[in-house]
Amino acid sequence: MAGMTRTPFIAGNWKMNLDHLQAVAFVQKLHWTLKDAKHEEGSVEVGIFPPFTDIRTVQTLLDADKIPFSLGAQDLSTHESGAYTGEVSGQFLAKLDCGYVIIGHSERRQYHAESDEVVAAKVQAALTNGLVPVICVGETLEEREESGPTAVSVAQLTAALDGVPADADVVVAYEPVWAIGTGQVASPEQAQEVCAALREVVAGTLGADAAARTRVLYGGSVKSGNIASFMREPDIDGALVGGASLVVDEFAAIIRYQKHVGV
Ligand code: PGA
Repeated sequence: MAGMTRTPFIAGNWKMNLDHLQAVAFVQKLHWTLKDAKHEEGSVEVGIFPPFTDIRTVQTLLDADKIPFSLGAQDLSTHESGAYTGEVSGQFLAKLDCGYVIIGHSERRQYHAESDEVVAAKVQAALTNGLVPVICVGETLEEREESGPTAVSVAQLTAALDGVPADADVVVAYEPVWAIGTGQVASPEQAQEVCAALREVVAGTLGADAAARTRVLYGGSVKSGNIASFMREPDIDGALVGGASLVVDEFAAIIRYQKHVGV
């Protein structure tokens, strides 16, 4: 199943950083930087995942300047509408041209007590609204020591894909919790092992076609200096980038990983 042509996806998860004014400056500068560097549009899909309050502004800018970045949100409600103070519906995100939504990031699992059931409900809410869920899974250091590198991620993804139809488009992101924002990056071999196991989960739940087309990303302290080593692995199709997605030159260098290290 590895080796299929899947468009690499470099996704910037801004988390709670950059307000809507900073977002405009950032997106314009990133676009110019990639243009100046003659980045070949389409060879790598670039995704921007800003805070909710930036999305309308970024959508308008992408549209007006014909900037070919994909847009996504960092979370959504399990509900469609109603008395859910503070929540944001997938319907609203779809109307803002969001193509993607991150679901089950470890910070949501940890700080907002998101269970596997909530994650699965959010995956359904995304698909109902035509959004591609970017399903995040990953183990803590204790879990890795207790049950090995793959068990937690496999269980989390299996739960998240419950009830998902075989023709659904999903993206999977393997983010070991111990590697997020710590500078302690997983080795490409470690990440490949888990990403291959996650592709097997997609094969077992959604079928071989889905496994062949589904992009599996690695996330956790990805930088311009290590991205190429991950992208060489057969089951790693891109990266979910946190801290390094907030620095234009660094994020641009990650997007242009083919240029600065031969692959
Ligand atoms: P990081 O975050 O790149 O800052 O480690 C990755 C993520 O949480 O998506």
